[in-house]
Amino acid sequence: MKLVKLIANLGYGSRKDVAWMFREGRITDADGDVLYADDRVEHARIRIDGEPLDPPPGLVLMMHKPLGVTCSRKDPGRVVYDLLPPRYRVREPALSTVGRLDRDTSGLLLLTDDGALLHRIISPRASVAKVYEATLAEDLRGDEAALFASGTLMLESETTPLAPAALDALGPRHARLTLHEGRYHQVRRMFAATGNRVETLQRVAIGALCLGELAPGAWRVLDAEDVARAFGAPSACRA
Ligand code: URA
Repeated sequence: MKLVKLIANLGYGSRKDVAWMFREGRITDADGDVLYADDRVEHARIRIDGEPLDPPPGLVLMMHKPLGVTCSRKDPGRVVYDLLPPRYRVREPALSTVGRLDRDTSGLLLLTDDGALLHRIISPRASVAKVYEATLAEDLRGDEAALFASGTLMLESETTPLAPAALDALGPRHARLTLHEGRYHQVRRMFAATGNRVETLQRVAIGALCLGELAPGAWRVLDAEDVARAFGAPSACRA
């Protein structure tokens, strides 16, 4: 692909804007030598104003989605794309969230421009584990683990029962829940079905990929090993 198109697709500007950037000598290689639009250069060696070029298509990143931010592109309020450089919102192929977290849920969110990967992660057949920690308004009754594991719990207005889910009580009003599907407001509705109410909800892992120490609002690009972790068995993320 021509450099102008590659850089424009990454959201740095229109092809016309990028052609100007070449003329102004703002696009160089890693040694600072000015590049020309027809040059053939390895992606990792390209610099714009001295900064490395954003990653090529096939981008996967993890974010600690903070509370009060939505996963939508168009919501009039704060959206997850506001936490990324503005060009990430317009790069092509488009960067999409892998599933969604509610505005009132924080934690691990993946974004990718790789449609096939996105579908592999959210596909019910892949059965990727999503691990949540919830604090609750009422004490656990004690029968939730058996009910959630049964594979028979039917949520209101659903036509199929939920797949078995694992609940670990972390305290009287604190639980970890591991799901292998992602229905609308699923965790909140599961606890509502037991007469309880979720007060705070955070996703702490996808497969064996943990939220870890990533601060709210922070994000990082994932490598192939991190991505493979998302398909692994959930492991204890916190000491
Ligand atoms: N379950 C919910 O209720 N909300 C989320 O954001 C994710 C899972």
